[in-house]
Amino acid sequence: MWFLLVTAVAAVAATQDLPQGYAPVPVSCPDNLQWVRPAVGLSQDEASWVEGRKKVILNSLDAYLDRLELEDFDRQEYVSRLDQTSQTPILGLAISGGGFGSAFTGTGVIRAFDDRLMEANEQRTGGILQSLTYISGLSGGSWPTVSFPSYGFPTADEIVDYWKPEIDRLLTVKNNTADAATGDTLFEQIATKFLAGFDIGVGDYLGRGYAYEFIPGESGGISTTFSGIRNLSQFITHEMPMPIIHLASVESGDPEYDGLLEPRANGTIFDVTPFEFGAWSGSVRAFTPTEWMGNQLSRGAPVNESTCWRGFDRSSFLIGSSANAFNFWYLETISNGTLGQFAKRSSKNNLAKRLTPPSDLDELVDAFKESFDLHLTDITYSTYPNPFANLSSSSGNAHTSPDLNLVDGSETGQTIPLWGQIQPARNVDFIIAWDDSQDADPYDWNNGTNLYNTYTAAKAAGLPFPVIPPVKTMMNLNYTIHPQLFGCDANLTTTGDDRAPIVLYLANAPYSAYTNFSFWQTSTSREQMNEIFVNSFDIVTQANGTWDAEWPACIGCAAVDRSLARIGMERTNQCERCFEKYCWNGELDERDPGEMDPTLVLDPGVGFDEWNATHPF
Ligand SMILES: *[C@@H]1O[C@H](CO)[C@@H](O)[C@H](O)[C@H]1NC(C)=O
Ligand SMILES: *[C@@H]1O[C@H](CO)[C@@H](O)[C@H](O)[C@H]1NC(C)=O
Ligand SMILES: *[C@@H]1O[C@H](CO)[C@@H](O)[C@H](O)[C@H]1NC(C)=O
Ligand SMILES: *[C@@H]1O[C@H](CO)[C@@H](O)[C@H](O)[C@H]1NC(C)=O
Ligand SMILES: *[C@@H]1O[C@H](CO)[C@@H](O)[C@H](O)[C@H]1NC(C)=O
Ligand SMILES: *[C@@H]1O[C@H](CO)[C@@H](O)[C@H](O)[C@H]1NC(C)=O
Ligand SMILES: *[C@@H]1O[C@H](CO)[C@@H](O)[C@H](O)[C@H]1NC(C)=O
Ligand SMILES: *[C@@H]1O[C@H](CO)[C@@H](O)[C@H](O)[C@H]1NC(C)=O
Ligand SMILES: *[C@@H]1O[C@H](CO)[C@@H](O)[C@H](O)[C@H]1NC(C)=O
Ligand SMILES: *[C@@H]1O[C@H](CO)[C@@H](O)[C@H](O)[C@H]1NC(C)=O
Ligand SMILES: *[C@@H]1O[C@H](CO)[C@@H](O)[C@H](O)[C@H]1NC(C)=O
Ligand SMILES: *[C@@H]1O[C@H](CO)[C@@H](O)[C@H](O)[C@H]1NC(C)=O
Repeated sequence: MWFLLVTAVAAVAATQDLPQGYAPVPVSCPDNLQWVRPAVGLSQDEASWVEGRKKVILNSLDAYLDRLELEDFDRQEYVSRLDQTSQTPILGLAISGGGFGSAFTGTGVIRAFDDRLMEANEQRTGGILQSLTYISGLSGGSWPTVSFPSYGFPTADEIVDYWKPEIDRLLTVKNNTADAATGDTLFEQIATKFLAGFDIGVGDYLGRGYAYEFIPGESGGISTTFSGIRNLSQFITHEMPMPIIHLASVESGDPEYDGLLEPRANGTIFDVTPFEFGAWSGSVRAFTPTEWMGNQLSRGAPVNESTCWRGFDRSSFLIGSSANAFNFWYLETISNGTLGQFAKRSSKNNLAKRLTPPSDLDELVDAFKESFDLHLTDITYSTYPNPFANLSSSSGNAHTSPDLNLVDGSETGQTIPLWGQIQPARNVDFIIAWDDSQDADPYDWNNGTNLYNTYTAAKAAGLPFPVIPPVKTMMNLNYTIHPQLFGCDANLTTTGDDRAPIVLYLANAPYSAYTNFSFWQTSTSREQMNEIFVNSFDIVTQANGTWDAEWPACIGCAAVDRSLARIGMERTNQCERCFEKYCWNGELDERDPGEMDPTLVLDPGVGFDEWNATHPF
């Protein structure tokens, strides 16, 4: 599958003048750039963008609430007070990791909240999307999170036409087309970065492959950068939410098996937006401009004062790094699944097994060795030049090492990318947490572990977050099948006050279709995509209100609740009723829940085998 590329690399070396395309480009260092800032508050750029976004949201929110028709809710008064006080609520959507599974079910969720979809407006869920300030993703969830903004935020139905998900870009490409490239070509592309003096690895290779699906631009979006989103007209006019993606990191001293490191649960979580790259906590408490990622800094100044680099932040590389769990896949393979366990997803779906282990993983390792003389430990992590060395706010490797070693954002056990949105600086009021991390063994549904992990991490860090019950309760109370709110009342948050956002937990579950297809399914037919979209729509709308006609109003109640308190308006009786019904009240049920093995919520008589027989995707 992967070929020897020694000659290809030599050819690139001979013909290239300036490393355009995938490789970062050398430029003279900018004057007057603030290279790093401490992780205190928002950057000026983000803060002013958010203020601009609030103005646009005020109109979308008004239209949304107009359609929603909450009982006894004075919409005009609400909107006018928001306008006067600049207290427009800050809403976010977080899309979990889970490979192509989460990428596509999460896209179905985006679709169900979109006011450009008539059915969504009919069901009174449309317009939430237009009222979001932030959208975050990691691993497979980073693909729609980066793709939608990069394309100027088209509708979900439009973006599927750009994606062409039916093409398998990773396993079966024989010839280059506008939509896919061969393994050889991907290697030639990443070779340009190598020849410019940068480390390369599996994250670059996978990212280039995914980019032919998810990133706009010639040759699989080869030049497209994440910071470039700032130049898109819809971003400039604040007509889309701001994307945040997460990466985890490994450090020397982390648990090591066979020479490969795994992050600890408290490992540093990196946060990347079109504005900045860095971390709010852990071994790095600083940010650097995303546009200038790729420069090695010491004490906040370039180590090489004459040459700086731009274009390290290729969108393909970022989505490839965020979804690069090669350390886990490799360890799972060599240990027969006893090492490299995600705090997530069932082991029977891991990449290693999809690639008929161990030969294909080894082939990839061999291809790097033959082409670049790089070995397993060189290519496993995504290597980023370290901008945070020698800062008083950094520690460990981030303080002393010229490079950062980054891995799949899922690897700390927080597969729902909430960390960036729960930072007090971002003031998020309400977060929709989409969970398709497939952590419930053995059938790849969800058991709430990843949400619970964020609660324990937030509690340890003193961050305001709703209290989340342990997974047995999550399962027994059906929170992994039906939507559930957390943190409506201050006494059920980590800080005991209303600084925590209200979190709407929505987990992928079978309503009209069994959407627990393999997270590594590398091609998806349009029919299956359609069924996934309808299933996500049925989850978001609770089967078009047939489960509970009041449900859509309850989403609205949760979205506005924190802002009501700020502008001196009362929660309505309807919203009290909603919270009574949908907000966790502290009750526990810690009996053994057994396995997550649901049948179709909308047609419980149809078991998986029967359904699968008529849905041969
Ligand atoms: C792919 O390229 C090979 C030659 O490398 C050619 O024989 C084959 O017909 C091409 N296949 C397609 C589908 O174009
Ligand atoms: C935006 O476009 C301008 C003009 O082409 C360019 O100078 C600038 O570097 C771009 N910014 C980003 C973040 O790509
Ligand atoms: C992370 O956890 C490890 C033990 O698992 C501990 O030794 C270390 O001090 C913790 N790091 C931080 C920053 O809390
Ligand atoms: C700075 O980088 C340029 C380009 O890679 C290189 O030629 C030069 O030697 C470097 N300077 C120093 C002082 O390392
Ligand atoms: C790998 O583990 C499975 C159970 O998880 C076991 O059935 C199988 O025999 C093991 N294979 C090897 C080669 O140890
Ligand atoms: C940290 O600073 C020291 C002293 O200036 C320097 O020798 C070292 O290279 C710096 N570390 C990194 C990773 O840049
Ligand atoms: C939930 O999922 C995690 C991760 O796969 C697993 O370790 C745990 O046993 C599961 N818990 C229950 C109660 O199923
Ligand atoms: C959870 O769902 C199952 C199956 O629909 C139902 O039997 C059970 O009563 C529900 N449990 C709760 C606490 O609602
Ligand atoms: C939280 O506070 C409310 C209002 O003060 C009270 O009714 C409720 O019982 C409290 N819940 C818990 C779990 O303490
Ligand atoms: C809900 O409405 C959508 C869009 O019209 C439709 O595709 C779906 O089948 C409906 N679901 C139910 C349970 O009626
Ligand atoms: C999907 O879920 C059903 C119901 O739990 C189960 O029977 C089936 O095996 C699952 N499929 C996969 C690929 O996990
Ligand atoms: C579903 O059916 C297909 C045949 O259409 C079969 O290949 C596949 O193994 C079945 N999936 C499961 C999980 O049983």
